[in-house]
Amino acid sequence: MKMKSRPKILLIEDDASIVGGLKKELQAEGYEVAVATRGDNGLAQAKEQPFDVVITDLKMPGLSGLELVEQLHAIKPKLPIILVTAFGTTETAIEATKLGAYDYLLKPFDMAELLDLVAKSVACNRLMSEPVEMGKARSNQSAIIGDGRAMQAVYKEIGRVAATTVTVLIRGDTGTGKELVARAIYQHSSRAAQPFIAVNCAAIPETLLESELFGHERGAFTGAHARRVGRFEQANHGTIFLDEIGDLSLSTQVKLLRVLQEKYIQRVGGNEKIPVDVRVLAATHRDLESAMKENQFREDLFYRLSGVTITLPPLSQRPEDVPDLVKYFMQRSGGEVGVDAPSIQPEAIAFLQDQTWPGNVRELENVVRQALLLARNYSISLEYAQEAYARTRKSVLVPDQTIAGYFTGLLAKAERGEADGVHAKMIEEMERELFARAIQLAQGNQAKAARWLGVTRTTMREKLIHFGLHPTGEKPDE
Ligand SMILES: Nc1ncnc2c1ncn2[C@@H]1O[C@H](COP(=O)(O)OP(=O)(O)OP(=O)(O)O)[C@@H](O)[C@H]1O
Ligand SMILES: [Mg+2]
Repeated sequence: MKMKSRPKILLIEDDASIVGGLKKELQAEGYEVAVATRGDNGLAQAKEQPFDVVITDLKMPGLSGLELVEQLHAIKPKLPIILVTAFGTTETAIEATKLGAYDYLLKPFDMAELLDLVAKSVACNRLMSEPVEMGKARSNQSAIIGDGRAMQAVYKEIGRVAATTVTVLIRGDTGTGKELVARAIYQHSSRAAQPFIAVNCAAIPETLLESELFGHERGAFTGAHARRVGRFEQANHGTIFLDEIGDLSLSTQVKLLRVLQEKYIQRVGGNEKIPVDVRVLAATHRDLESAMKENQFREDLFYRLSGVTITLPPLSQRPEDVPDLVKYFMQRSGGEVGVDAPSIQPEAIAFLQDQTWPGNVRELENVVRQALLLARNYSISLEYAQEAYARTRKSVLVPDQTIAGYFTGLLAKAERGEADGVHAKMIEEMERELFARAIQLAQGNQAKAARWLGVTRTTMREKLIHFGLHPTGEKPDE
């Protein structure tokens, strides 16, 4: 099984000094980079070849950035385009977003900011373009696996709502596949050719979320130097996926409710009513009934959102699906960890079926990957499965334990002859702890966590695989 190819970026920029630096940075992050120095050439390349993201300058020979956005977006509405533009041309940048650019950056920009935006665009593009099969996996594609009764009911629901434009609320515990279901609905909908914009409401600071969703006018708040077009406006005629909707503040809930009811948005700090035609999919792992009782979630919004609710069963309620899931994940992870023909023994499957899986399918996926790493080219035995299961859950530091306490414990073990190779062990365990905490704090954003730790995204990815972490379950290179 081959690994997924590296994300491809087309850089359209006529200034050679900018191209050189940018290209190097992007390549260091693991991207494949193609360069065009004229707008018209860039457009031609983007039409012909599959790219994950296009980064374009505004002023170029051949064709302006704005014209490029307009023409390219008309042909490939799902391809994210990032416009880089000098300060003072902000209005043009806004124009570009309206014409379909995914986002824009003002020069001089921060490299970290650009890399973050690129990572976001790549993820967004892959969400839109990677098809999701239901029930069975074909080759290496994304699929919702599980043939048991519970999942059959879910597929039926997806089929029922996909073609409509009804709002769907997707519920289920963490790792049960809510995002996967949102993508499946989108891809089977009549809006599949239009953009799918995902917003993780929990990952954006509350103060910025309203502006992210609805945009803002210049001067709406400190730091709002220019007008910004929000995700709702961008998703016009398409689909917006509001993930972690249970984390919305009450004030944002009010505004969202209004958008759903009246079908127009108002930018923060603005009066203009801008009509939007957007299909809304929402997801949460939270118990909204309790949140409503505690006045943390508005009932009217709940009823608006839950025209149709799809609830994903926890994995423990569908052990019959575990064998298929295990095989699917062995196929998907095999290439990644360098195992050509992965296999597993029946006792190991039985063991995995018996666990309770608080992290649901995502946790199972991590355990399978870890087991493959342990077993290498051997079949995954019961022992490997058990070891992988233990490894993916354990944290070396128990809560509130100090580093000093950890060292003392480790050295005491060595003194008693119960541990050897203490130095290597400590380094390994501390490193795992650091990566685990960083990725958790970054809410799964690998680019962010990598930046904090001062490592490349490639290293980040390798370490996450090595430690069996992969908390988002997403392979960044997909
Ligand atoms: N039925 C399934 N078949 C195959 N893969 C699945 C299934 N359900 C979940 N996964 C995989 O498990 C991981 C987690 O799924 P997903 O991100 O959709 O969960 P989620 O419900 O959104 O979790 P969270 O609440 O933590 O955001 C992903 O890698 C996804 O591909
Ligand atoms: Mg999710």
